[in-house]
Amino acid sequence: MTKTVSIEKPDRLPRHLAIIMDGNGRWAKRRFMPRIMGHRQGAKAVKEIVTACRELGIPYLTLYAFSKENWSRPREEVDALMDLLYDYLQREVDELLGNRIRLRAIGELYRLPERVRNLLFETLERTSKNYEMQLVLALSYGSRSEIADAARRIAEKCAKGVLSPPEVDEETFASFLYTSDIPDPDLIIRTSGEQRLSNFLLFQAAYSEFYITETLWPDFDRKELLKALQDYSMRERRFGRTSDQIFLRCTGSES
Ligand code: FPP
Repeated sequence: MTKTVSIEKPDRLPRHLAIIMDGNGRWAKRRFMPRIMGHRQGAKAVKEIVTACRELGIPYLTLYAFSKENWSRPREEVDALMDLLYDYLQREVDELLGNRIRLRAIGELYRLPERVRNLLFETLERTSKNYEMQLVLALSYGSRSEIADAARRIAEKCAKGVLSPPEVDEETFASFLYTSDIPDPDLIIRTSGEQRLSNFLLFQAAYSEFYITETLWPDFDRKELLKALQDYSMRERRFGRTSDQIFLRCTGSES
């Protein structure tokens, strides 16, 4: 008997969902198309997933749209990805405003081409008062450099005597990351079957649940999202505790 997957809205949703959108190139290759066609289709999937998350009521959605390492892709592909990002910002701003979605961006944004950077900053500003959902685009993002950068700024503050080394705990450290006012991701989805983090939110993912699907990003639709969320809602998140402790906590009988 084939197992049916319920695709109703799950009872327990992540507060912060992060997605490593992978497989655009393979999607295009399978259709004998240039890679950029896969990215274009990927941008359509972005729109569908943002809308679905907004409707479901997921407060934070982070999308890994362009890694620091992606700068070393062929020039035409990088240019095409920047054009897609520009088009997305231009096309979606009204949708973001209408749905009260605040756009955020994390990464080495100064490396983006000027016209993309200007439009991005303008969109960040225009949507900054929105509160229903936060859409975080990771652009020119690399987690190791985010961490190294935080460490350097902490060291500078210590050297100036503004911060003392014993004050540097996990919480202080996290406040120096790009994500200082964003909760850690509860669930990280990676499409196209690869099983790695690829320099994405390494510090923030300490207790994230992972969901890996063979589906390529351009084919990842609302139904696939609900399947992932359903899977997540069945998981027991223990944060290092035992199952019994979690049960007692849920029933309110923990001492
Ligand atoms: C990884 O697939 C995907 C990317 C490097 C880019 C992601 C970009 C988009 C989904 C579209 C633009 C984004 C926005 C926000 C408008 P890959 O090219 O590495 O695929 P492959 O592993 O199959 O080659």
